[in-house]
Amino acid sequence: MSNRTILITGGAGFIGSHVVRLFVNKYPDYRIINLDKLTYAGNLANLKDIEDRPNYRFVKMDICDFEGVLALMQDEHVDGVIHLAAESHVDRSIKDPFTFAQTNVIGTLSMLQAAKAYWEGLPEKYEGKRFYHISTDEVYGALEMTHPEGIEPPFTTKASSGEHHLAYGEKFFTEDLKYQPHSPYSAAKASSDHFVRAFHDTYGMPTIVTNCSNNYGPYQFPEKLIPLFVNNIRHRKPLPVYGKGENVRDWLYVEDHARAIDLIFHEGKVAETYNIGGFNEWKNIDIVKTLIRVTDRLLGRPEGADEDLITFVTDRAGHDLRYAIDSTKLQRELGWEPSLQFEEGIEKTIRWYLENQDWLDNVTSGEYQKYYEEMYKGR
Ligand code: NAD
Ligand code: DAU
Repeated sequence: MSNRTILITGGAGFIGSHVVRLFVNKYPDYRIINLDKLTYAGNLANLKDIEDRPNYRFVKMDICDFEGVLALMQDEHVDGVIHLAAESHVDRSIKDPFTFAQTNVIGTLSMLQAAKAYWEGLPEKYEGKRFYHISTDEVYGALEMTHPEGIEPPFTTKASSGEHHLAYGEKFFTEDLKYQPHSPYSAAKASSDHFVRAFHDTYGMPTIVTNCSNNYGPYQFPEKLIPLFVNNIRHRKPLPVYGKGENVRDWLYVEDHARAIDLIFHEGKVAETYNIGGFNEWKNIDIVKTLIRVTDRLLGRPEGADEDLITFVTDRAGHDLRYAIDSTKLQRELGWEPSLQFEEGIEKTIRWYLENQDWLDNVTSGEYQKYYEEMYKGR
């Protein structure tokens, strides 16, 4: 389809910037509007390479600003929304749950209401429209580390595709699981997912929801495990591993998530949910040792020399034990598969952070915030 106008929210953040870049480059006939409030996590430097493209526009706006979003949708004739804007860090949600409810729940509701008000007023109404909400696997809660008698994890287990994968438990997150969020972050995301589905069921809005596992790659804010630890290893600062480092996360390279979003936006079925993940489970402590090994090698230090930086600290409150996505439905119905093996992806990622120390320094200094606030005053 040509001449579409797509509103991407949260496009100045980690995943959003990869989605914006992919769409701007791949679809020169589309108009891509990036709506972002530029919170501490939003950074226009993530999009420097595409900011002057004729099919791209940035708008500094809060998703909670219903009137503003509605006016923008009307002015720009938006016919597709890809909604990523959110507060995304679990530790922050434990300290400040109100902000998470405001942005993730009320903000999503405001986006839905604006899309509804605009689209329902058009002669064609919802025809050719799409509201695609990006969510997380954390809404499903935590999986156990069960394992067959006598076999120590990680062991080979079967996902619903019948394929075998290395895993730390026999169960996976499938789309039909009931929601059991534990943190204020995942509770707020779960609530937003329910609102999106309610807008389909109540008003007939053409919605889609996807739930993805942990992403890694360039431009991730260095409060999250991988960029934080790479930066700390570089500067020989302590690596604060929560608890004993036994928790398991399922990691996907961010560009593979962006490709899945592109595919699902265009070919996914309305009212469906798709889980996105690469069957790539890792214990935190093993990820940390891998980060140390590869970073040391890339910095010309003896591999593993920095293991003494590992510092076990008080566990995260309510720390979910294991996440593991079963993405069989997406693979079967739309043919999506991750393109990068983890070993390749993690080396590429570490190399990027080491080669982009300026980006890290800017983001950690907070200087970029002041700069962009000045630049976008009143826009
Ligand atoms: P991020 O924190 O890096 O970026 C969030 C972006 O949203 C920032 O640019 C920020 O400025 C913007 N934003 C925040 N509040 C806003 C508001 N009120 N109005 C407008 N913009 C606002 O987040 P991320 O890691 O890129 O995650 C993006 C989305 O993907 C989130 O919805 C998150 O729940 C989901 N998700 C993330 C992961 C992951 O591993 N990072 C995995 C699955 C799903
Ligand atoms: O599963 C998808 C989710 O992944 C997304 O919805 C979230 O937006 C995203 O932030 C991420 O959540 P996590 O809490 O899993 O990511 P984080 O990088 O914060 O932590 C990964 C694991 O590492 C987790 O088990 C906690 C642990 N950790 C994290 C930090 C920041 C530590 O041990 N030490 C740390 O300093």
